[in-house]
Amino acid sequence: MTSPAPFRKPLRLLITAGPTREPIDAVRFISNRSSGQMGSALISAGIEAGHKVTAILGPVSIPVAPEARRIDVETTRQMYEAVMRELPGHDVLIMAAAVADYRPTKVATDKLAREKSLTLELEATEDIVASAAAAKRPDQRIVGFSLEQEGSIDRARAKLQRKKLDIIIFNPLRTMDAGSIQATILYADGREIPFPECPKPEFARRVIDLL
Ligand code: C5P
Repeated sequence: MTSPAPFRKPLRLLITAGPTREPIDAVRFISNRSSGQMGSALISAGIEAGHKVTAILGPVSIPVAPEARRIDVETTRQMYEAVMRELPGHDVLIMAAAVADYRPTKVATDKLAREKSLTLELEATEDIVASAAAAKRPDQRIVGFSLEQEGSIDRARAKLQRKKLDIIIFNPLRTMDAGSIQATILYADGREIPFPECPKPEFARRVIDLL
């Protein structure tokens, strides 16, 4: 397989950040622990490097560079629709969002009364990054993240292949909600580059440089 020609600047980057939320009723939801810091750092690093950035954001309270074109979403389905709509106009998708993997099959429109117990039936949400990888053109690149237990790099390798990504960034669970990251970048061609622990903004600049 021949690798695509290197990109010329400026790139059009599509970056997702933050969690998604799946409503249970009018006030409750299930979600993931995610501050959106890594995604926000990537958005800033992309802008500082002179690229054009579209940011698709789940509910985040952290600041996001105002120079980015910003699309706010709440649920996984909304993020999926925004990514698939925006993908054709971009060179690279970086999927830094912590997507909720399940949603309740039924959503109550009112606030449910508190009972002794509540059983929820959940269904899998769309796999956004895998759908994007299946729909991409040969000149586009897809980058995902893989947050796993320390030492479970094999799971990241498996996700890279299963989701057909160009790059996956393996990072341990302690990265979640933290200001720093210790990551290994895995490429589809088998290359693996470990990085020492560093603040997320510094790591984000390195990732943007690699593009
Ligand atoms: O949750 P998981 O470890 O499978 O996440 C790996 C990558 O897949 C991440 O980049 C995440 O943003 C993406 N993902 C997705 N849609 C999902 C679950 C994860 O795009 N439903």
